[in-house]
Amino acid sequence: MSTILEIADLKALAKRRVPKLFFDYADSGSYTESTYRANESDFSRIKLRQRVLVDMSGRSLETTMIGEKVSMPVALAPTGLTGMQHADGEMLAAQAAEEFGVPFTLSTMSICSIEDVVSVTKKPFWFQLYVMRDRDFVMNLIDRAKAAKCSALVLTADLQILGQRHKDLRNGLSAPPKLTPKHLYQMATRPRWCWNMLQTSRRTFRNIHGHAKGVTDLASLNAWTTEQFDPQLSWKDVEWIRERWGGKLIIKGILDAEDATLAAQTGADAIVVSNHGGRQLDGAHSSISMLPRIVDAVGDKIEIHLDGGIRSGQDVLKAVALGAKGTFIGRPFLYGLGAMGKPGVTKALEIIRKEMDTTMALCGKRRIEDIDRRILAENPY
Ligand SMILES: Cc1cc2nc3c(=O)[nH]c(=O)nc-3n(C[C@H](O)[C@H](O)[C@H](O)COP(=O)(O)O)c2cc1C
Repeated sequence: MSTILEIADLKALAKRRVPKLFFDYADSGSYTESTYRANESDFSRIKLRQRVLVDMSGRSLETTMIGEKVSMPVALAPTGLTGMQHADGEMLAAQAAEEFGVPFTLSTMSICSIEDVVSVTKKPFWFQLYVMRDRDFVMNLIDRAKAAKCSALVLTADLQILGQRHKDLRNGLSAPPKLTPKHLYQMATRPRWCWNMLQTSRRTFRNIHGHAKGVTDLASLNAWTTEQFDPQLSWKDVEWIRERWGGKLIIKGILDAEDATLAAQTGADAIVVSNHGGRQLDGAHSSISMLPRIVDAVGDKIEIHLDGGIRSGQDVLKAVALGAKGTFIGRPFLYGLGAMGKPGVTKALEIIRKEMDTTMALCGKRRIEDIDRRILAENPY
């Protein structure tokens, strides 16, 4: 634990502890992965302004996201198959987030169900919605999130069709994994993962299994998920989803100022500037590079969050400086989970908090609310 100093350390440990097909599922982008790489590398092009001899005592990272108090402006992003990085992964990550005081977002494509997560948490979490062709299923899913007292619905707008991830096809990814010799070998060389997985019965998509018509076994579940993402989903649908839900709504997957304007017109409470972690449109710009023009377009109309490529507290501060009220992390918490379960998720959050706190001080600021573009350095050349 003491040698884990940065998110990259958690990634290296997760690689050793999680079977290859699931580690690769997290560590991949679509096609050439150029957008996946740009999400991370574009952060390092932004430079911070060093300020000195200012009182840096009494610092606080507390703020709000959609009106909810958070201990720092970082939420856990919705990620599918999280319960395959570590047994009961969604339940463990939700608990870690709750204890840390940051929001946890449960994916529609999670292993643990909404009800599973409710059973181990005390505070409301957020629920991410994929809209399926089977509208009865979607309505029921929204009602289940309501019954669970989820405090926000995160509608993902950038995955009506799947960007191809070569690694997943090469690895033959499925949940639960198929028992081919290759997969058995990958699991046998990860005994800790296997042991934990044998202690749980949660090994398939539990938000879907038993809730969607005709999904009674694994074969029908696989067929259902591949054909169910609705290619006809449009801005018009946001209205009925919003009505049915009736609570706070966040639209995730906005990368263009025109789409941001349309999203603001829906009356949603926030948008997430996101390219799905580089897993959808390969060749799209990084999230952080698109943030300034989206803030200029709708910053006074709707709350703006950002995800994609955040690997440090410095990255969070840069996003906040450019106008994000909050951020989401996907892979950093997945690596923590794969490396060490719940303490690993806590560790990922601690790393980011410590980096953010120190960096804020070295920029001459004491409160996250004081962070704006003035902490960024101009290109000196
Ligand atoms: C393994 C994995 C699974 C994901 N599954 C979902 C999902 O089910 N729903 C969703 O809206 N986004 C999903 N995403 C995208 C994340 O919510 C988020 O946009 C992305 O991970 C942010 O980039 P980062 O991983 O660089 O932090 C997934 C991302 C990863 C890495």
